[in-house]
Amino acid sequence: MELDPVSSLIEKFRRREALVAVVGLGYVGLPLAMTFAEAGFRVLGLDVDAAKVERLRAGQSYLETVAGARIAKANGFQATTDYARAGEADALIICVPTPLTRAREPDLSYVIGTMDALLPHLRKGQIVSLESTTYPGTTEEELRPRIESRGLAVGRDCFLVFSPEREDPGNARYSTRTIPKVCGGSTPACLEVGLALYGAVIETVVPVSSTRVAEMTKLLENIHRAVNIGLVNEMKMVADRMGIDIHEVIRAAATKPFGFVAYTPGPGLGGHCIPIDPFYLTWKARQYGVNTRFIELAGEINRAMPEWVVGKIGDALNARGKALKGSRVLVLGIAYKKNIDDMRESPAAEIMEILAAKGAQLAYSDPHVPVFPRMREHRFALQSVPLGEASLRAADCVLIATDHDAFDYAAIAKHAALVVDTRGRYREPLPNVVQA
Ligand SMILES: NC(=O)c1ccc[n+]([C@@H]2O[C@H](COP(=O)([O-])OP(=O)(O)OC[C@H]3O[C@@H](n4cnc5c(N)ncnc54)[C@H](O)[C@@H]3O)[C@@H](O)[C@H]2O)c1
Repeated sequence: MELDPVSSLIEKFRRREALVAVVGLGYVGLPLAMTFAEAGFRVLGLDVDAAKVERLRAGQSYLETVAGARIAKANGFQATTDYARAGEADALIICVPTPLTRAREPDLSYVIGTMDALLPHLRKGQIVSLESTTYPGTTEEELRPRIESRGLAVGRDCFLVFSPEREDPGNARYSTRTIPKVCGGSTPACLEVGLALYGAVIETVVPVSSTRVAEMTKLLENIHRAVNIGLVNEMKMVADRMGIDIHEVIRAAATKPFGFVAYTPGPGLGGHCIPIDPFYLTWKARQYGVNTRFIELAGEINRAMPEWVVGKIGDALNARGKALKGSRVLVLGIAYKKNIDDMRESPAAEIMEILAAKGAQLAYSDPHVPVFPRMREHRFALQSVPLGEASLRAADCVLIATDHDAFDYAAIAKHAALVVDTRGRYREPLPNVVQA
């Protein structure tokens, strides 16, 4: 007896007979593809970047967060740039970028471009899942009509879900498999198929009643972070004026066993998510006549952090009879977050830009970023310098922008004339260390 499309797909996922295609093999897509492959699925990785596909075919990784050995060992995994192969897949999981335009509005061009490229290859009996972070309504307003334009009824012929991704690069405690995953369907049948797809590889899948709830859930998570980081950055500036160590305050507050979540201040927001995603909601909320004031305010405070840090560097140099202009500043850690190589939206780049404009002479050291990458808004012809007594002594100021574990903090404090610490790495006051 032939099974209906819902039961047939669920059965394929249960038996691991399905071919899962992951479209967009970046920080989100590549670990997800590996997770499916390691669970025994055949996996097709689709990306427009031929260089990435070549590396994967050679069994190599281009991300620090995915070990090359995983790629080499993933037998059922194939990488391709050929969209025509999407027709072979039972599941199509879209993990492409969702940045902001220059006008700070949602740029859905990657999501829509991907969907349009998949359309000619869609067929009955497939599930499409969008993982890219976006505003509520994207799945229903942008993807569903495109699928239906192919004459496929969503919920009957093929299935559509939104399931936001929750990677935490560099966090060794959790993996794609153990981080609970939210999933919302376009229809109840879509949700049923989505739960079977993700349930096959992820320990806990959390169903929600619609794709819009799933989209909004991801935004709430990231807005919660952005707003609380904004708050703690404001508290940092107040504490600084009062001569209080904000990090000591946070450590003390965090001993409260309920009702307090510790967030740490820093040199500004970084990464592909927290500085960007909240503005997806801001844009959509305007269509409903609502202003997202917390988001705007937190954005304002967080975006002002690089300037504030530069102000602290200028003051500290001034106190030592030096001007920013002509001073040698060694920036430690330029990735946006500790122990990873991701430079996207890194506040270190912004700080370096401001310092360079004021005439400082820059060098940087970051074991995770050997060469300063080409960024959309920042260009520096710099390579990471080795961190040692000589490079520390040569600097008028050493700025800890990102506190990678690989740095020797005792040696930094010992040899540097001045350390400006944006991460609260030094707990005890030292005469040559300034918190910023
Ligand atoms: N990085 C994270 O920690 C994180 C966490 C949660 C959510 N997200 C969200 O996940 C999505 C993807 O983020 P990412 O960090 O993996 O991005 P990324 O830039 O690392 O990867 C995106 C990949 O998509 C590829 N690509 C672009 N256009 C394509 C197309 N038309 N067809 C096929 N491939 C295409 C790119 O070549 C790249 O390899 C974003 O919406 C982001 O907001 C990311």
